[in-house]
Amino acid sequence: MRATEILANEHSLILKALETFTIAKEKLENGDYPEATFFDKAVLFSKNFSDQFHHFKEEYLLFGLLAQKKDGALDLAMGALRYQHERNRLFIKNIEQSIPGYDPKNEITITTILENLAPYISILRRHIHQEDHLFFKLADQELTQAEHDSLTEQFLLEDSNAGARSTYKHHRDLVDEMRAML
Ligand SMILES: [Fe+2]
Ligand SMILES: [Fe+2]
Repeated sequence: MRATEILANEHSLILKALETFTIAKEKLENGDYPEATFFDKAVLFSKNFSDQFHHFKEEYLLFGLLAQKKDGALDLAMGALRYQHERNRLFIKNIEQSIPGYDPKNEITITTILENLAPYISILRRHIHQEDHLFFKLADQELTQAEHDSLTEQFLLEDSNAGARSTYKHHRDLVDEMRAML
């Protein structure tokens, strides 16, 4: 399996989580209120799976290798993807901080959640689309088979250190739980 296929598979689960985030956003827009624990789960998924587990592989392993190999030629593209990771970390942090005050009567908190949730969903969808359709294709062309193999090995090593089998199952379950709450 190519290293980029592992990342694209992880995108499928992240997109499923984003579907539930979108339903929650639409509920808030229409005066319906998911339980606060929905947002707790959404923050956990985003921090632990999307950011730590997935973005670590991209930023530290794939981008690192491409930066060395291409000697700066892909810096602009990787810089933009990194910037989107950073913006999304900030949106999730803001959502996390507003959860303790979450209450249908607290319009300021609902506004804060919406003003962070909406761009989070939008930027992450665009980000995943760009990675799947442009950046990973570029990476596939640039890397030799030996580099692909070594990157895949590093991904699998990282995954086994992070207890990947249980990480995938735990986060698939988390998405099912979020969906069931809406
Ligand atoms: Fe990414
Ligand atoms: Fe990604």
